[in-house]
Amino acid sequence: MTREEPQVFITEEAIRRRVGELGRRISKDYAQVDILHLVGVLRGSFIFLADLSRALTIPGSVDFLAVASYGTTVAPKGPVRLITDLRTDIAGKHVLIVEDIVDTGDTLAYLMALLALRGPASLKCCALLSKPASRQTEVRIDYLGFEIPDVWVVGYGLDDRERHRALPYIGVRSPSGS
Ligand code: PRP
Repeated sequence: MTREEPQVFITEEAIRRRVGELGRRISKDYAQVDILHLVGVLRGSFIFLADLSRALTIPGSVDFLAVASYGTTVAPKGPVRLITDLRTDIAGKHVLIVEDIVDTGDTLAYLMALLALRGPASLKCCALLSKPASRQTEVRIDYLGFEIPDVWVVGYGLDDRERHRALPYIGVRSPSGS
């Protein structure tokens, strides 16, 4: 039996180009800021954050937090929970949340509210992907890579039951669930 690879949805090259563009835009917008604090949302954002942080031409720091909503099953999503908090105090700092995907919007809304309470100098979000058709909670995405239709995407950090996270491209899960 052969192992079926997910069909390519966004190529490695298109991702590289877009991440470069985002990096340039963010670097320009934050040019006057001492340090931009990138906050990666584990686990899905780890590859995007690694590439985005290297596309920035301004001083930056990196921290992570982890949330959970739907565990190992696909649906329904439960309430968002904070599993691992930041290691750094963000009071008075310029913070950019880095997400792989905004789907229902619940995670981003939760994180924006949570981190805003800690008194950052500014708080914005950069997401690689957004799926507006799934939105349940309206959120603002300050920097967006790609808007996508209602398909199940994997790769470049995104998983399907922990599979395919390390794919270099964004793929679509096949109907057989590969
Ligand atoms: C994904 C993604 C976002 C969240 C977005 O995480 O990384 O954090 O879902 O979904 P929402 O807009 O519907 O809230 P997931 O729960 O799959 O965990 P993972 O990052 O560990 O794979």
